[in-house]
Amino acid sequence: MNNRKYNAVITAVGMYVPDKVLDNKYFESIIDTNDEWIVTRTGIKERRILENGATSDLAAAAIEDLLKTKDINREEIDAIIVATVTPDMFFPATACLVQDKIGAKNAWGFDLSAACSGFLFAFQVGSSLIECGTYKKVIVVGADKMSSIVDYTDRNNCILFGDGAAAVLLEPSEDKSVGLQDTILKTDGSGEAFLNMRGGGSLNPPSHETVDNKMHYLFQDGKSVYKVAVVGMADVSYEIMKRNNLTADDVAYLIPHQANLRIIDATAKRCGIPPEKVTINIDKYGNTTAATIPLCIVEYYRSGKIKKGDKLVFAAFGAGFTWGSAFYVWGVD
Ligand code: COA
Repeated sequence: MNNRKYNAVITAVGMYVPDKVLDNKYFESIIDTNDEWIVTRTGIKERRILENGATSDLAAAAIEDLLKTKDINREEIDAIIVATVTPDMFFPATACLVQDKIGAKNAWGFDLSAACSGFLFAFQVGSSLIECGTYKKVIVVGADKMSSIVDYTDRNNCILFGDGAAAVLLEPSEDKSVGLQDTILKTDGSGEAFLNMRGGGSLNPPSHETVDNKMHYLFQDGKSVYKVAVVGMADVSYEIMKRNNLTADDVAYLIPHQANLRIIDATAKRCGIPPEKVTINIDKYGNTTAATIPLCIVEYYRSGKIKKGDKLVFAAFGAGFTWGSAFYVWGVD
């Protein structure tokens, strides 16, 4: 047990996915692929796409959904952290746009860029704001409009991604047996070449050439990323369980980033966690980048599967490379 005064506890959750569904049949009509290949190689059956609007709209809708379940005044929200790699624009930060959209007049905030590990990294930062005792209500939202950076002629990648957002409200608890207990977070920038979007930034400012070379789209060498992700996510999850003396029996759910069902299965296997204790929604939403973990949290909590006192292990892997794991004990009914 740590010697902080407070632990950060999730006291409310919310989510938003757009109505428009792209199923695997749709991809059969635009690229050389088929439903069987996509399902067996990835576990994805469909994904949601935002037709009008931006990442701040996804994030604001998720927070509105959260606020419907929690009797707080918007002016009490101290801070908003938006984990995203698809900000509305370079600046101002998406967090500023979200703050205005939800009318959180007293909140400050910022965006955090850690790709598919974004929610986990933001969750650690948001929890630290609570743990230090300075802030009482912090919203962490994972939101990505991946359809804005996906090349729908690239069959290797376009089938993988979807749009969505989910949010958690963090509050302090003096009961240290609940809330965030431990995290292991890692980066290795030598993995940059395998998963990136190189156009539009200071390295390659927008030009006709960057557009012609499709540099404003996500690039991924899927096979190389797969090999590193499968080891990285499995090892870090195993490590956090070991250092917190958790056996598979102790863990109610492993909540992994949803990039590929085979990576999820390998992680669960390494930790000895049976399939019924692994949260899955990749079949419905694909890879929503920063939103996958909180979407799982919201759906499994709302369906009554996650209960007070449940020990949870979060695990993520993404561009950077970034990866990590968290040990969290659910703290509310
Ligand atoms: N439909 C049909 N065939 C496809 C296809 C598609 N949508 N996309 C690729 N293929 C083909 C490839 O061209 C390749 O053909 P070839 O052998 O003739 O060259 C074949 O399928 C196998 O490709 P491969 O890359 O070996 O497939 P894979 O089993 O590695 O699966 C991914 C591809 C992308 C699903 C997988 O590599 C993956 O999930 N990567 C990691 C993604 C990830 O975790 N990202 C993490 C952070 S977001």
